Amino acid sequence: MRIAVTGATGRVGRHVVALLADDGHDVVRLSRTHGVNVVTGVGLAQALARVECVIDAASGSAAGQARPTPDAALEFFAAAADNLHRIGHAVEVQRMVEVSVIGVDQFTSGHGAAKYAHEQRMLNGPVPVRVLRAAQFHEFVPQLIDWGIDGGIARVPTMRIHSVAARSVARGLVDLATDPEWAARPTRAEPPFPEIAGPDEGDPVEMATRFVTHHRLPLRIHAVTPDDPIYTDGRLLAGPHAARTGPTFEKWLNSATAAPPVRAVDTTGCSSAADSSGRHDTSPANRCPQRPVTCAQRNSRVVLDR
Ligand SMILES: NC(=O)c1ccc[n+]([C@@H]2O[C@H](COP(=O)([O-])OP(=O)(O)OC[C@H]3O[C@@H](n4cnc5c(N)ncnc54)[C@H](OP(=O)(O)O)[C@@H]3O)[C@@H](O)[C@H]2O)c1
Repeated sequence: MRIAVTGATGRVGRHVVALLADDGHDVVRLSRTHGVNVVTGVGLAQALARVECVIDAASGSAAGQARPTPDAALEFFAAAADNLHRIGHAVEVQRMVEVSVIGVDQFTSGHGAAKYAHEQRMLNGPVPVRVLRAAQFHEFVPQLIDWGIDGGIARVPTMRIHSVAARSVARGLVDLATDPEWAARPTRAEPPFPEIAGPDEGDPVEMATRFVTHHRLPLRIHAVTPDDPIYTDGRLLAGPHAARTGPTFEKWLNSATAAPPVRAVDTTGCSSAADSSGRHDTSPANRCPQRPVTCAQRNSRVVLDR
């Protein structure tokens, strides 16, 4: 089966690509890295030629960059959904699978609302779409740390989630896309949508603390309480019909293949000033209040690859 994957280099998309290839499918990778832009539509018509099914796993985030604003996320998802439907329909794509988020319909603002608008837009286009609502990925924890880094601390939101490995979500997406009954008669999905989640309830604050300890990162995790109660009142937890699948966060963390690589360099929050050559004055009067540091350490920060 010829299947295209948007977000082919992303946290979940890269696993979708690998699983499809392992299963012997003809995989078309869609991302800007591969010369295809789902927002502008550049390269999309050529890439979707003879494609039977699209698995949509793109998002507007980019590795190493700040989190897009909710408005930017809304614009990204709207343009991407419209292009996938318009161009996909024109070149006779038969069906699409979208990865969404558990509890997404509960959001009335912010990134969650942008994602809900995406789900709606995907469902309401001309190409039949199935939705898989996933819990936050284990891989989302290092992303939250990265977004929250400020000197030697990382501010991480407290949440109630059943986090799940991106690879397990990828398996669920591949199974939906290749379901022979749906392939024979593609119809648009109706709620309740299938959900996929990890085995345990966890809080990203505690998971982030385990992550930085595991990777020996010089960071302290500070808990932040999100404004929207949806994050902490249980509405993002998996429903009773959710598929619950491992590995646990702990197993994922200890797995060499699943844990994201970490480019970590020291960060100290040192306040000593650099001279014109970039060297830092580490004399007692100007020494970093946390601990003595070298110039290289002062100028560095922790960077987490995805
Ligand atoms: N992260 C989570 O915890 C989580 C949980 C549940 C559901 N989801 C959903 O899963 C989906 C994927 O999330 P993710 O975290 O795996 O994404 P991600 O790691 O942020 O990856 C984003 C992907 O989208 C591609 N992309 C970005 N802008 C693009 C553009 N203009 N045109 C084409 N490709 C573009 C990126 O590749 P290039 O940079 O090469 O273009 C990359 O492959 C999203 O819809 C998200 O809402 C995520």
